[in-house]
Amino acid sequence: MKIGMGNDHVAVDMKNEIKAHLEAKGIEVVDFGTNSTARCDYPVYGEAVANAVAAGEVDLGILICGTGVGISLAANKVNGIRACVCSEPYTARLSRQHNNSNILAFGARVIGIELAKMIVDEWLDAEFQGGRHAERVAMLMDIEKHQRRDKA
Ligand code: RB5
Repeated sequence: MKIGMGNDHVAVDMKNEIKAHLEAKGIEVVDFGTNSTARCDYPVYGEAVANAVAAGEVDLGILICGTGVGISLAANKVNGIRACVCSEPYTARLSRQHNNSNILAFGARVIGIELAKMIVDEWLDAEFQGGRHAERVAMLMDIEKHQRRDKA
């Protein structure tokens, strides 16, 4: 299992703690930065991790900014990405089981590190349930195709 991680300047410490938590479980982490606390722009890191997930270079992604919102919005602009902001474990689990989320996002200014670890663990333990959920996820992904057609 290989996970791509990305964050902005407000989430460097939390990224490093989650990275260590994942590595302790034997999970390989590809760090897309930032590793600086100098002010930066979250879309850069959201897009980088999303591209790696969409290309299959990593299996899943984890993104952290102040709220998780900006960086997940950036990721969701990349075709094939289903990034979900989760501030508690229940939503994290269901985002995998029902929505087949391939990127987990949360906010370093919203939750503490122990809750963040719990959310990550719950998300990684959960599996997509398929069935009726697969049809809905396919409908979600079809929206990308409709958009491309409209632009042509
Ligand atoms: C940075 O100040 C902040 O806007 C960013 O981390 C994030 O919360 C945006 O959604």
